[in-house]
Amino acid sequence: MQGPLMIALDVPNEEEMNAILDQFELNDDLTVKIGMELFYGNGPAIVKNIKNRGYKVFLDLKLFDIPNTVKRAMKQIAKLKVDYVTVHALGGSKMIRSAKEGLSEVAYPTKLLAVTELTSLSEKEVKEEQNCNLSMSEQVVHLGQLAKSAGADGVITSVHEVKVLRNQLGDDFLYVTPGIRNQNDAVGDQTRVSTPKVAYKSGSSALVVGRPITQSKNPRNSYLKMLKEWNNER
Ligand code: C5P
Repeated sequence: MQGPLMIALDVPNEEEMNAILDQFELNDDLTVKIGMELFYGNGPAIVKNIKNRGYKVFLDLKLFDIPNTVKRAMKQIAKLKVDYVTVHALGGSKMIRSAKEGLSEVAYPTKLLAVTELTSLSEKEVKEEQNCNLSMSEQVVHLGQLAKSAGADGVITSVHEVKVLRNQLGDDFLYVTPGIRNQNDAVGDQTRVSTPKVAYKSGSSALVVGRPITQSKNPRNSYLKMLKEWNNER
């Protein structure tokens, strides 16, 4: 089944978040992604605000620390009953397994997603700064395999890598893809972008869309337009 089109709210405070969310209807079946900026600035109350509207929450904090610390942090996050959380796959299999254990201490089906290599890093940087001699796609598949075997539910990846990842890791894993744009949108700082239609055809499990929705004149209309394309409706 087609997963959600998640809206990334990269704004600094609750007022700006509310200004965007107030333009949606309460029965819109939204999944809202908040990251470090909103969470560090506003605390867990921000999650409650979104959940009170009836929306699902993707808490994108990208944890990366020793296994014990990550497990204890995930136990706290689990109490917020969010739907998706993230860790860096580069933290290793013990850390990912510990993250999963921390989450499992609260009975809520929070999905653990692993970031492979950040899409902001080039192959040259991965080679020179991480001393990694694999190609980018080999490294992403390697980290995806590691994440899956350590119990993650999926990865965050670019649309361009979904086919090879799905081929190697199978259909019982989530491939969540940011870097989504309409055909004529500004690309911004993203380099490897795709439309919702291409993401659908490539086999993405869920989309993450920020600026094409949040910075448009009518965020709800932009969301519905992209959602239609993502659901492959004419
Ligand atoms: O505005 P835009 O659609 O580019 O936002 C994409 C969102 O997805 C941002 O919140 C960004 O942090 C997130 N993301 C990403 N690439 C990754 C992981 C997360 O763009 N590899």
